[in-house]
Amino acid sequence: MIPAPALAPGIGTGRTPLPVPRRRAPEGPGAVGPEADAGAGAGPVAGGPGVAAISRPSPPPSRLTDRYGRVVRDLRLSITDRCNLRCSYCMPAQGLDWLASPLLLTADEIGRLARIAVTRLGVERIRITGGEPLMRRDLEEIISAIAALRTPDGAVPDIGLTTNGLGLDKRAAALRDAGLARVNVSIDALDRETYAALTRRDRLDDALAGATAAQAAGLAPIKINAVALPGTFDAQAPRLLAECLRRGWQLRFIEHMPLGPSASWSADDVVGAERILAVLADAGFALEEAGRPDRRPAALWRVAPGEHDGAAHPAGSMGIIASVSAPFCADCDRSRITADGRLMTCLFSTTETDLRAPLRSGATDEDIMRLWAAAAWRKPLAHGSDDPGALPSGFERPGRTMSAIGG
Ligand code: 5AD
Ligand code: SF4
Repeated sequence: MIPAPALAPGIGTGRTPLPVPRRRAPEGPGAVGPEADAGAGAGPVAGGPGVAAISRPSPPPSRLTDRYGRVVRDLRLSITDRCNLRCSYCMPAQGLDWLASPLLLTADEIGRLARIAVTRLGVERIRITGGEPLMRRDLEEIISAIAALRTPDGAVPDIGLTTNGLGLDKRAAALRDAGLARVNVSIDALDRETYAALTRRDRLDDALAGATAAQAAGLAPIKINAVALPGTFDAQAPRLLAECLRRGWQLRFIEHMPLGPSASWSADDVVGAERILAVLADAGFALEEAGRPDRRPAALWRVAPGEHDGAAHPAGSMGIIASVSAPFCADCDRSRITADGRLMTCLFSTTETDLRAPLRSGATDEDIMRLWAAAAWRKPLAHGSDDPGALPSGFERPGRTMSAIGG
């Protein structure tokens, strides 16, 4: 197990107990309940157009559930594995072997999967991720196709974008017009040299310009994601928090997960929630726990008005995503699709289900729904495993890095 940066009593991040597995789920998704489990999953990529569920007609599922009673409402769609930064915790300096364009889902294919998810499978929120989603010129087109969808209750899906912000200044208004509701911008440091060292690119001003333009375009609230990294956290965190409060941005610190190059992560180096809070308190911030609204991954803290580095800051809030020290797997309502059309039920999944091949070989919407529901049903309990306590590091390490999976 990870020597979890244990949380002191009273410093809760809203950890909830892991769910108890259901032996059989009578309301399992049609023909893709536990019995479908038995035959699927040979090799790392399960599924495909020939899966038994397709040839065995049954009513298509109307939602995505798993063996532990969790229900998918949130879909993360990665639309590219490419990025114009090289964050050291995410990818090597030379980048990765990018997927060739024909392997990427097209805007139409992404739109079709989103339509199936929103209109027929109970998905209410879609987040576009990457790699860096702004690397795709058809991002606006993808967003407007999703924004035209309605849930069975007639609601507009909530559409978010996770981006590094580079180039967002020029596209924020068009993205808002296309139907984008909110953005998360990744900024790990506010010191130019530190940002350049972490991302291997001297682009801090561009990232800040992107977040500023998104705010001006009304893509509120602006959330800033900062990975808590051992070498830089103590110096960068207070400055980041003060500046985000001044600008009206919601800062969220993310515990560093083992999702990048293997040498970039060590369990001993994880800056956990407890340490994050201690560093901020030492720097003079008055924090009050505000819980985990809607059981979302970020545990929130209210910050009182104060002063940092000789300048005042107003009240606001800040979040901690304690994926390592207090995983929220029990409440996870996410499903992920990679840029090449593979379904991953967890960031740490070691199995993937190919949806691109069926999409390109005449599968009906109902075929796709059955495949999706069968894969969702097999979602592992936590961190990619049904027995996370037995794993040496507490994590099953996925075959792909975060940029390939989608954050
Ligand atoms: N651990 C934690 N967060 C990560 N991100 C990328 N790689 C990791 C990692 N190994 C962050 C990005 C982005 C968000 C989607 O995830 O910085 O803000
Ligand atoms: Fe790009 Fe995000 Fe990876 Fe940084 S963490 S290299 S911004 S995909």
